[in-house]
Amino acid sequence: MVIRASSISCALAGMATASPVEIAERQTQKLRIMPLGDSITEITCWRAFVWDQLADAKLADKVQYVGSQNSNPQNCKPTTANWDQHHEGHSGWLAIDIANSYLTNWLQKTPADIVMFMLGTNDVFRGRSTTDIMAAYTKMVNIMRTANPKVKIIVDLVIPLSAGSSSGITSLNAQIPAWAKGLNTTESPIVIADCYQGFKTSDLRDGVHPSISGDRIIASRVGPLLLDYVKQSLGAQTVSS
Ligand SMILES: *[C@@H]1O[C@H](CO)[C@@H](O)[C@H](O)[C@H]1NC(C)=O
Repeated sequence: MVIRASSISCALAGMATASPVEIAERQTQKLRIMPLGDSITEITCWRAFVWDQLADAKLADKVQYVGSQNSNPQNCKPTTANWDQHHEGHSGWLAIDIANSYLTNWLQKTPADIVMFMLGTNDVFRGRSTTDIMAAYTKMVNIMRTANPKVKIIVDLVIPLSAGSSSGITSLNAQIPAWAKGLNTTESPIVIADCYQGFKTSDLRDGVHPSISGDRIIASRVGPLLLDYVKQSLGAQTVSS
């Protein structure tokens, strides 16, 4: 990569408060990506397949997955053997509880530059209203931005359920686009990964969790958005170096 001296001095002039050490840290700091969710994040393989996309794009050595969990409970076997298995997926957990009691602490322990989340399925199971779930989404975005004002967010439309409650899922998914648009900012963008459209109940292994075909659908919807965010973030780092 050719970096012209004029662009270096120009960028440095805008970083009056950063010491050389701080600048060096920014250059070596890997981008931190938090996969946040419930069992559809924890005991599934889409995280691994998205990592393959990062590796194919030669970005894997510049990023890390972060979260309090470090596991591969489905024994996923992506092409990339050494994929980062950190995540913040918690089987059975509600968006409402994560927003009210956990997310602040998780983001303090493992700060994130990018958060990608799918949540609400368990809230729907427990009969929580769409209004309450959307309020939890708003609270989560506020927590993410308090932790990092420049956090980039990917919110997934939730995959379908074959066992009952499907009206709760469709109602939630119907609300997400306008909600995301309303909270979208230049500094902290929100984009939507549509994991619902074209996802058939036959892509579920047990009526709730994706089979491998379902994992591939989720990865195909989330991955390109994540790669865009990663490239944007790395581009911004290049400017500031
Ligand atoms: C948020 O803004 C960005 C940048 O303008 C845009 O690409 C994205 O689609 C917007 N998100 C939503 C949910 O409208």
